[in-house]
Amino acid sequence: MADGSSETKSSNQMWGGRFASGPDAIMEEINASIGFDKKLYAQDIRGSIAHATMLAHQGIISAEDKDKIVHGLDTILSEIDSGAFEFSRRLEDIHMNIEARLAALIGPAAGRLHTARSRNDQVALDFRLWVKEELQKTEKALTGLIAAFLDRAEEHAETVMPGFTHLQTAQPVTFGHHCMAYVEMFGRDRARVRHAIEHMDESPIGAAALAGTGFPIDRHMTAKALGFREPTRNSIDTVSDRDFALEFLSIAAIAATHLSRLAAEIVIWSTPQFGFIRLSDAFSTGSSIMPQKKNPDAAELVRAKTGRVNGSLVALLTVMKGLPLAYSKDMQEDKEQVFDAAESLELAIAAMTGMIRDVTIRADRMKAAAGSGYSTATDLADWLVREAGLPFRDAHHVTGRVVALAEQKGCDLADLPLAELQAINSAITDKVYGVLTVEASVASRTSFGGTAPSEVRKQIAWWRARN
Ligand code: ARG
Repeated sequence: MADGSSETKSSNQMWGGRFASGPDAIMEEINASIGFDKKLYAQDIRGSIAHATMLAHQGIISAEDKDKIVHGLDTILSEIDSGAFEFSRRLEDIHMNIEARLAALIGPAAGRLHTARSRNDQVALDFRLWVKEELQKTEKALTGLIAAFLDRAEEHAETVMPGFTHLQTAQPVTFGHHCMAYVEMFGRDRARVRHAIEHMDESPIGAAALAGTGFPIDRHMTAKALGFREPTRNSIDTVSDRDFALEFLSIAAIAATHLSRLAAEIVIWSTPQFGFIRLSDAFSTGSSIMPQKKNPDAAELVRAKTGRVNGSLVALLTVMKGLPLAYSKDMQEDKEQVFDAAESLELAIAAMTGMIRDVTIRADRMKAAAGSGYSTATDLADWLVREAGLPFRDAHHVTGRVVALAEQKGCDLADLPLAELQAINSAITDKVYGVLTVEASVASRTSFGGTAPSEVRKQIAWWRARN
């Protein structure tokens, strides 16, 4: 035990084992949050300085006491920064740890800091500040990931690859287009991050325990000092609300899900069977027994971290779902979920950004695969509609017969002799060969948002202007 105060008591038969010093040790163990909420020390100190400054401005405490408090808090900040601060579990949480140290440093003036404040609005403030900063970091990290994809998309605007549905070859697409699909996904994640920052940009401090306070505080002043748009509007909601944490976790879960899908593609594409990409040594590992192997460990771990992030979201939703207003101690369980998810997400985005920048694209393998599996069958059907005037359903049927013939002969569509094509439908001319190549196929898909290199370049330019 950190401070050892209850170790002198004798062991309790009933509780036994690790709780050598009886029930109050158990209480301390279940109650204390200092083990994880010490992460909030900088936010706690910033909040206290803003609060003390406002109290003095409003004449609630003297300027002299305020100066002592601010000076003491600055000292504590550098103590914690340098690792010199001794955290005590007996003091429960970061708020009490800092307040107790402040009393030791400046004496009775420290007792005036908690005027018109409760730990309920204090923790709501600290945690909100932390989550807001984390969202800002996430926004930056996503911008970096999007930039990596934009560069790869530009480089490979013309590189053809098979597009898949059901992981079966569907139609040829460009690798640039595929990259831009991820730009859209991470772009939406970033938009959600920006919305969340806007939603949560209200200062909780001054809601006090739950009812507000009779002291003539100025919540607009503290809100401004702490970089919030305005103060929250209902003191009961303020100390009950953890939507900002749930929003962070929801956003994190969706982003992690996107990262996980990308990870799954990287795992599949880096197999010798696909061989679409070669991972850099920096983001893969060898096998301890099979010398030929290069494993996509980083991608697999990104995929796995999604499980943790999703778990955190469900955990906090479950903590909150039955809680009557206002604050309940259950809410102390909010922080570890958010801290863990934030760490996983940060790491996953960083790893993916590195992987996307480093990965070698095997355009030859992609192109070869793009042409297999009769991927241009739809182009043939479209040609029959356009050039021979067939209704699409009939064209689909004719094309089906052409595919069956190629399958039977074991060749590609473009290798079928014209006479055999004409035997299936007499309207077919040798012009049809012009649409059966994968390059012709992708070049023709010029609809807005389509896979044609010209269209992909337009979308890259659109995103570049917004990234
Ligand atoms: N450690 C607490 C938490 O994280 C701080 C708030 C305590 N408030 C109280 N009324 N016990 O939620």
